[in-house]
Amino acid sequence: MGNERIGHEIHLKERPVGIPTENSFELVSVSVPNPKEAQFLVRNVWMSVDPYMRGRMREAKSYLPSFQLNKPLEGDCVGQIIESKNNRFKVGEYVLSNFGWREYWISTDGNDVTKIDAKEAPIQRYLGVLGRTGLTAYVGLLKIGELKGGGGNKTVFVSAASGAVGSVACQIAKIKGCHVVGSTSSLEKVKWLLDEAGIDYAFNYKVGEDNISSELRRVCPNGIDIYFDNVGGRHLEAALDNMKVFGRIVLCGMISQYNVDTFPSTRTYNLFLAIRNRLKIQGFIVRDHYDILTEFCTNMSKWISEGKIKWEETVFEGLENASKAFIALFKGEKMGKTLVKI
Ligand SMILES: NC(=O)c1ccc[n+]([C@@H]2O[C@H](COP(=O)([O-])OP(=O)(O)OC[C@H]3O[C@@H](n4cnc5c(N)ncnc54)[C@H](OP(=O)(O)O)[C@@H]3O)[C@@H](O)[C@H]2O)c1
Repeated sequence: MGNERIGHEIHLKERPVGIPTENSFELVSVSVPNPKEAQFLVRNVWMSVDPYMRGRMREAKSYLPSFQLNKPLEGDCVGQIIESKNNRFKVGEYVLSNFGWREYWISTDGNDVTKIDAKEAPIQRYLGVLGRTGLTAYVGLLKIGELKGGGGNKTVFVSAASGAVGSVACQIAKIKGCHVVGSTSSLEKVKWLLDEAGIDYAFNYKVGEDNISSELRRVCPNGIDIYFDNVGGRHLEAALDNMKVFGRIVLCGMISQYNVDTFPSTRTYNLFLAIRNRLKIQGFIVRDHYDILTEFCTNMSKWISEGKIKWEETVFEGLENASKAFIALFKGEKMGKTLVKI
């Protein structure tokens, strides 16, 4: 009894309405079981917070089940094995899994984790640029957007451009030789996009929020070839106003709509422009594209080693601050990939 290990996890206490507040979350103490035969015990070191989790907080049918009330939330995390009764998994090794929002968890057989090599890269990178985040940008732009090498004359517009996915999408487009325009919410982020990510033009959409369309018309006078949409709403409408004939719109996410009461929103008043301009508009879910994981890892690792991909991390310390980290996504109070160090 005296050796009982106590861990903490974050439960969903109520389904949020609007932008979540800390009242929707609860830090709960739990007793951590000992691993049985074939099992191993993991202590989480890093966890990711991601906008899609907001969708799982609703009671609605989607591509992933809703989170249950008074149960731990889930999400990508990297942890270290601290006890093992499974020959394939040794104490000290690191694994990537979906058991975020908690300090400890048990794997029943190891089939629900991916081993990662801490010598290859800092482990939190597998939650960001080398993980699902980077893969989303890669798949969205190259596979869904069908951007090929030698995209020299192409103009690419990325919204939430300084965010985790957006910042990588911007830089892949630059690697492919495109003219890249990004929108974000502060001068500091604009500066990072120009000076560090090296894109061609960045603007603060909060200055004259109704003028995204006219800003795009000014900076993309010949139109946009590919719009990588992370935001939806006014950004999508503004991009539709400015697409080239036969342009492509990659629907990656619509964060501006995730907290509205009427989700999914029926806005986008000018969608008819997709017909007039013969646009191809395609949504995607990164989980459908794990077939290109090896190709992605090879290319992304090479680009990183060549200094062609840069990124920022905003780190919240402690599991007790995970809800703050999650809320920051919707307030833009972060830069690049948002992580919690547990
Ligand atoms: N399809 C997929 O499989 C897939 C996978 C991963 C992510 N996604 C989507 O990709 C998008 C970006 O995800 P991420 O993980 O990289 O998050 P992120 O960009 O790091 O964080 C979200 C950013 O969205 C912007 N934002 C928040 N509320 C906004 C609003 N009302 N209007 C305009 N901008 C707003 C903020 O940036 P600013 O400071 O610039 O406003 C914020 O920093 C999300 O829509 C997400 O759902 C899709």
